[in-house]
Amino acid sequence: MKYAALLLFFLLTLTVQAQNQKGGDDAKGIFKYENFQKPDECGSSCHVDFYAQWKQMMMSKCYTHEWDEIEYFKLAVPHAEKDSKVAGVKAGCNGCHAPASFMSGDVPPPKPNFNSRANESVSCDICHTVTGITGDTPFNFNFISNPGNVKYGNRDDSESPAHETAKNPLLSKAEFCGACHNEKSPYGAWVKATHLEWKDGPYSKEGVQCQNCHMPRTPGVTSAMGTPRQDAAQHLFHGAHDPGKVRGTVELRIHPEIQEVVPGEQAKFTVILFNQKTGHKFPTGSAEERMLWLHVTATDSKGKTYHLKVDRKGFEGEDYTIASNVLAYQDMGVPLGIPGFAGIQRDGIPEGDRIFRMPYLDSQGRMTIQQWNTASFGPDYRLGPRETKSETFTWILPDDVELGALTVKAVLNYQKLPTPVAEYLGVPKEEAEIIEVNFHQTYLTVVDD
Ligand code: HEC
Ligand code: HEC
Ligand code: HEC
Ligand code: HEC
Repeated sequence: MKYAALLLFFLLTLTVQAQNQKGGDDAKGIFKYENFQKPDECGSSCHVDFYAQWKQMMMSKCYTHEWDEIEYFKLAVPHAEKDSKVAGVKAGCNGCHAPASFMSGDVPPPKPNFNSRANESVSCDICHTVTGITGDTPFNFNFISNPGNVKYGNRDDSESPAHETAKNPLLSKAEFCGACHNEKSPYGAWVKATHLEWKDGPYSKEGVQCQNCHMPRTPGVTSAMGTPRQDAAQHLFHGAHDPGKVRGTVELRIHPEIQEVVPGEQAKFTVILFNQKTGHKFPTGSAEERMLWLHVTATDSKGKTYHLKVDRKGFEGEDYTIASNVLAYQDMGVPLGIPGFAGIQRDGIPEGDRIFRMPYLDSQGRMTIQQWNTASFGPDYRLGPRETKSETFTWILPDDVELGALTVKAVLNYQKLPTPVAEYLGVPKEEAEIIEVNFHQTYLTVVDD
């Protein structure tokens, strides 16, 4: 009896040890595609609603989405083949964008039009087989995957006729998301830090997780087989690709110093911006390519519009935060095979507008959108969670400005990818669509002196 118990204990230890403990780069090729269930198997008759939600969101398209395909195949793969410093990204991009391919050693995977299993992107069975992360800090796909009959979730009272279930508290925590939403470049730069930004900010202290804002809980069914829940975790994951999520993120107000102005004299306006919605910085994540800028105009009573340029504050690296037509992104010449590439226009927006960004710099200190080729950063001039920033605009009114009402308008615009980059690389127009985050306007009167 005693021996039987010992033997049982031994066998149990063996099975525990058989559990995979590898994550990140070490997990390359440790499984086969067949170890992961296809998302339509989860969604065809049981998780019908979640499947429909997943289909709509970006994580079902991380491999197939056109801009991802262009960046990976036109830039990252050729770059990895030419520069040994970044050689690891040829496989590594897939650790987050096509995890089943990475863990099956199918890297680079066939292009999306081959319709291979890489196209499943971040599927149900990627997230629901995660048992932990390696180390203390989640980053660079260091999640530990244990595919099999047990699906890990957020409850301990769920039962399924199709598979076993187990609760894994990690799934309800920001650290889980951080495994893919924090990224360190081969140069050691934190080129994605959404989870780290959250951790440093007010929401983590209040216990508000990523899931609270991106997987809101509402009454609903989690499976066609199960009983409805009062708090079903919706798989919306809405973000930059959902204008509704982006709109209203920042509140703005203009206040003029005076109510009446005289032609030829100076007027000063202050615009206050408050980030009321994001749990991390805005912009976050793929910040190397996000544009967020403040455009201020004054329109006189005859409808003539003047563009106001932002006042300089004088901090180091401020030029990166003021729109201009300088050339940038010269490091794209390496993967594109263009020696001495002069670069393309940096911003493609009206000169003199304030940009809330953190410039990514390559090893030669030039601005880059190739996050994997980033060695350092310029000033971080983004809006932190619940942060307020203010900008001033000092304007000498032209002598011929019309008397009467003067409308001053401040608009905060957002774009996922700068227009010059989208046009140069042939990325579909939607990717460079301009979204109005918010606006405010106020009125002054132009009077004769
Ligand atoms: C990016 C990771 C991710 C993907 C992809 C994903 N899920 Fe989830 N899922 C989660 C997380 C995280 C939770 C728990 C949320 C919480 O605790 O608030 C969850 C919860 C669930 C639950 C339980 C919900 C509840 O409230 O009881 C079910 C069922 C589920 N997912 C099924 C699916 C199915 C089916 C798919 C694919 C169609 C899928 N998930 C895709 C991360 C994911
Ligand atoms: C296995 C890796 C992985 C995990 C785990 C993961 N994500 Fe993602 N997520 C991605 C990738 C890759 C993208 C980029 C999609 C694309 O190509 O645009 C993304 C995109 C997103 C987006 C952006 C949608 C948009 O509109 O642009 C949101 C929001 C998001 N994830 C939230 C979460 C949250 C919340 C969690 C944790 C519950 C999570 N993710 C876990 C890999 C992951
Ligand atoms: C308090 C609510 C809140 C919390 C908490 C929160 N987010 Fe967000 N998130 C937002 C809002 C609002 C947006 C839309 C504005 C934007 O794009 O930043 C957003 C956008 C995003 C995007 C898209 C950004 C882009 O530029 O593509 C990603 C990815 C994302 N969140 C992931 C996360 C992850 C991961 C966490 C946890 C570490 C998290 N979020 C926590 C509110 C939140
Ligand atoms: C550690 C995980 C991780 C790695 C590694 C990674 N990505 Fe991503 N990638 C993400 C996440 C998460 C997002 C979404 C960020 C956001 O929306 O804020 C993203 C977004 C993108 C986007 C932008 C899509 C858009 O919404 O504009 C492209 C393109 C992209 N990745 C390509 C690549 C390429 C190419 C590589 C390899 C050089 C790579 N990624 C490596 C996690 C990763």
